[in-house]
Amino acid sequence: MEPTDPNSKTEGRKVRLAVLASGTGSNAGRLFAYFEHHPQVEVALLLTNKPGAPVVQKAHQAGVPCQVLPNECWQDAGAPAAILEAHGADYIALAGFLRKIPPELIARYPRRILNVHPALLPAFGGKGMYGMHVHRAVLEAGETQSGISIHLVNEHYDQGEIIFQKKLKLTEGESTETLAEKIHKLEHTHYPRVLEAYIMAQEA
Ligand code: GRF
Repeated sequence: MEPTDPNSKTEGRKVRLAVLASGTGSNAGRLFAYFEHHPQVEVALLLTNKPGAPVVQKAHQAGVPCQVLPNECWQDAGAPAAILEAHGADYIALAGFLRKIPPELIARYPRRILNVHPALLPAFGGKGMYGMHVHRAVLEAGETQSGISIHLVNEHYDQGEIIFQKKLKLTEGESTETLAEKIHKLEHTHYPRVLEAYIMAQEA
């Protein structure tokens, strides 16, 4: 496929979404399924830094093209930008992607990179705040609620503009495991729809 300018108009063709993930990929899998028969949006690529991550298998099963770029290739935007542009990516969805996005890549995709975070930002975000670390911090802080945040990605970890949040109340005896399960359910329900609504609004 011909490389495309990520900021060009998508009139007359489907919007191409790249998913970046490093791990299990339960959210990535939801995105693959949600957009499989979508009339206006398609998942063009899974890009990962982890060759053996379960998300790679999910991409193969879903028929989504997959590319692996190991950690050392994320120091600058060169290699990731070349792959994303070769696959014609218009938007990028992070789904448990654990490398920092190079600033030049963010500049190439202005307001076109989104992330889902398993807590209510701006609290419980930043470097090292991922997975169980987040849920443990929420419980240790004695919070009565947590939730998910879907936000634009800027050059600071978890500090981009928040476009959606959904809260949940913590229950008596809540553990990191029970909380993680509830948060995943919220993410699976909302991330595909919020991404879809965001992309459609941008393209309107
Ligand atoms: C999700 O909880 C998401 O909030 C965070 O990373 C986790 C990825 O989980 N950014 P999975 O790999 O999608 O199951």
